[in-house]
Amino acid sequence: MNSSDTNISNYLQTPTLRLLTCGNVDDGKSTFLGRLLLDSGNVYEDHLGALERISRRYNPTNSGPELAYLVDGLRAEIEQGITIDVSYRYFFTRNRKYIIADAPGHAQYTKNMAVAASKSDVAVLLIDAASGIKIQTIRHLSILSLMRINRLVIAVNKMDLVDFSKERFDGIKDDIGRAIGTIYGRMCPFWSVPVSSRNGDNVVRKSASMPWYDGGSVLEILESMELDNQESSSFCLPVQYVARDADRRYYSGTVASGEVSVDDEVVVLPSLLRTRVSGLSVAGKHSEEAKKGDPAMIELADEVDVSRGDRLVKSEQELMQGDTLSCQVFWFGEKAMVPKDVYELKFLTYKARATVRQVNERLDLDSLVRSPASRLAQNEIGFASIMLSTDHYCLPFQESKALGSFLVVDIGTGDTVGLGTIVSIGKAGRPHPYATVVDKSMRAALKKQGPMLIWFTGLSGAGKSTIANLLEQRLYEQGYHTYLLDGDILRDGLNRDLGFDSDSRKENIRRAGEVAKLMVDAGLLVIACFISPFAEDRTMVRSLFRKGEFCEVYVSTPIDECIRKDPKGLYAKALRGEIPDFTGVSSPYEPPVSPEVTIDASKCSVSEAVQLLLHHLAED
Ligand code: ADX
Repeated sequence: MNSSDTNISNYLQTPTLRLLTCGNVDDGKSTFLGRLLLDSGNVYEDHLGALERISRRYNPTNSGPELAYLVDGLRAEIEQGITIDVSYRYFFTRNRKYIIADAPGHAQYTKNMAVAASKSDVAVLLIDAASGIKIQTIRHLSILSLMRINRLVIAVNKMDLVDFSKERFDGIKDDIGRAIGTIYGRMCPFWSVPVSSRNGDNVVRKSASMPWYDGGSVLEILESMELDNQESSSFCLPVQYVARDADRRYYSGTVASGEVSVDDEVVVLPSLLRTRVSGLSVAGKHSEEAKKGDPAMIELADEVDVSRGDRLVKSEQELMQGDTLSCQVFWFGEKAMVPKDVYELKFLTYKARATVRQVNERLDLDSLVRSPASRLAQNEIGFASIMLSTDHYCLPFQESKALGSFLVVDIGTGDTVGLGTIVSIGKAGRPHPYATVVDKSMRAALKKQGPMLIWFTGLSGAGKSTIANLLEQRLYEQGYHTYLLDGDILRDGLNRDLGFDSDSRKENIRRAGEVAKLMVDAGLLVIACFISPFAEDRTMVRSLFRKGEFCEVYVSTPIDECIRKDPKGLYAKALRGEIPDFTGVSSPYEPPVSPEVTIDASKCSVSEAVQLLLHHLAED
């Protein structure tokens, strides 16, 4: 291998960090990026010469080169011809390759940031030391949290303008720490660094002007940041090109997740044909393996039919299959997103037609409060259920950014009008491919009832189980075939292995939802009682059912009343710190915004509550 081969192979093996820079427009993003590129040795001599000439011409009074031109000057060309205003800058150090998504634009920042954040691991959020945190800083933080960017570097910039004051830096650090805690609502590690991009303090090199700061520079933090990825490691290569020579075919694309080696078995999606990798190259060089982010070309052992848009995976079972996506949507289209509209969804290289089934909620970016909605206007964020014309293999965004997000394209104009992140994948629209001969409607007809799920949510001790038990008794007396699924009972058996941290609760609710779905399929009236504190999990359960088959009952008894009654003595223990993650005490409860029925059990008797429910069910 000659030395340039060694360089290339070293380069390919260094891990990649995908970085997003954001912050209020005046907080110095371009100067920061320019400084990062310059001081890390990633600016060519001729660029530097041109930069100094331009700086002297436009800003003769300023001493050094105007670093912002380094970024802004290049941007105009890069932006041409792309519909989404995100440009990417690449630079590398000995340890890492960096891909910086730079999302310019003031007016359309939601769109630009959401698109950039959907592909990033880490964000650098700039705050002007002189003017402090602004409303836009908070909005950017909200978008970062929605896009699950779980590592933040807070660069408190322009420290030279506040005389490198430690007090000023500490004040901003405390404020932003509080904002992160509120917005993320879960642990999100963050680093804060006092910076002056103009002078180069603490961007790449440690500053001599702030001896009181004992942390690393921004680049040092990025270099040493652990990249332990919590994402799914299932291999997936979306096929971008198929090339052929005399007797072989090669499939190329960028590895979206996981890794693959020569001799590995692979499955082609959606055809489910199976074969083996017989040869591999990465960036034009023979290689034994290819991993996430690598531009790879794969040769397959058998002549199977693979075309652009297909995906190669190791096992289809590592992905979820379905035709109904419950998702969070960032809407950019001038025309609102409304139910029944048909769009094209673009998942990496794969495209599919889809119909909007329902818009459920809209999210206010400033307060993060959800409210009921039936449409999403331009620049709004909300939650919707979308039905694909055919089954698709994907993952929730939480498990894989690449396999869990999609762009929404207007079929008429070809414009990108939205970005979706998948919360859950269901199968509501069409019969299951392995559908049984006797089906739900036949079972239900025999029982002379319309099967459905009545889902009780609310704090522990709110009265869910008491009301649910009497409801089941009344339904039974009227001749209905019912079943009551109770959180406490499931946690004794099927869910015995689960605790109360948020991931365990998610799994608890997922299993409960799936079991309820089977029971509804069996033709039963199912009643479920789970605290189910997280809106996202309840939305997922809802998405498993057809409209009218799911009724959410929010037992809204106030926490003070639950604590006063404390039927199981659990609040007393939780308040003494003896039960960790206790809902309402040390773990949050997100109330539903548009439940079908709300019952405050402190304001009515159990039988009145049941009367109200029976009345509601009869009306439906
Ligand atoms: S959920 O949050 O995952 O939906 P689930 O309804 O299954 O909860 O179980 C709640 C029941 O578990 C409560 O009624 C209570 O009896 C018991 N429990 C034990 N520890 C906790 C806790 N940390 N938080 C809430 N409930 C708890």
